[in-house]
Amino acid sequence: MPEAAWAIIVHGGAKEVPEGKEDANRSGVLAALAAGRRVLEGGGSAVEAVEAAVRVLEDDATFNAGMGSALNADGEVEMDAALMDGGTLDVGAVTGVMGVRHPVSVARLLLREETVLLAGEGASRFARDRRAELADPDELVTDEQRGALAEHDTVGAVALDGRGHVAAATSTGGLTGQSKGRVGDSPLPGCGFYADDTVGAVALTGTGETIARAMVAARVVTNLPGAGPEGAVRGALEFMGSRVGGNGGGVVVTPEGQVGWWHTSPHMPVAYATSREPQPRVTLKKTEEEADVEPAQ
Ligand code: GLY
Repeated sequence: MPEAAWAIIVHGGAKEVPEGKEDANRSGVLAALAAGRRVLEGGGSAVEAVEAAVRVLEDDATFNAGMGSALNADGEVEMDAALMDGGTLDVGAVTGVMGVRHPVSVARLLLREETVLLAGEGASRFARDRRAELADPDELVTDEQRGALAEHDTVGAVALDGRGHVAAATSTGGLTGQSKGRVGDSPLPGCGFYADDTVGAVALTGTGETIARAMVAARVVTNLPGAGPEGAVRGALEFMGSRVGGNGGGVVVTPEGQVGWWHTSPHMPVAYATSREPQPRVTLKKTEEEADVEPAQ
């Protein structure tokens, strides 16, 4: 029997939170948590919950996903997103998708299809054909991103639902100034995310190239039963750092409803709640004291 009937943990990216942006990061991940949690408390699925949470982060220009995405070297927004259902091991992922408001929802539309990953114009065409919410590519560009320095800032969420299913979702604009067509870890199963009901779910953020080379998500799920949520993420990120460099962070949920996270970046905004400990908690870094937040009305 799970220890918690539901659990959800969301993050706003492995990065350095600039001075003055602390509140925006805290309130952003809390809003995403509230959206995902509403789904779970209403009896919805983990897949629905992580999609709902990530959509909120995609709408918030504080985060590098959807609106406010990093610009590539051509000054364009090309986005990656993925969703995985731990019950069926179905994956839907898109990379280099342009002109959509919610890349994670395009990934969701692909989830039950045989195709796992759609790229570029194929992904954008799929989004149009399946009537995903479209956006003028210029609408997604914020003034802040026009002058931004390189940073890693994928968003993600993992959840456990009342039927014992786990799910993971990621969404990112990639790296500022990346070459057109560059793909990071976020749409790659086993690298930027994974979900399996028998083990748990993980969503990563950080240096896409080294996360992929170290197969960080695969490492986390392999080590999760022995190391526990925090230990598994920490171990995988430390392995990555020592073997191939880079930094990052990750959030994990287990089928028992335990949540955990770790990051090797200066900050990683995180918010979480479980049915056993329903009061939302939020933090900008692992070593910071977590703030309790009154439950949303
Ligand atoms: N972690 C996001 C990226 O490297 O694209």
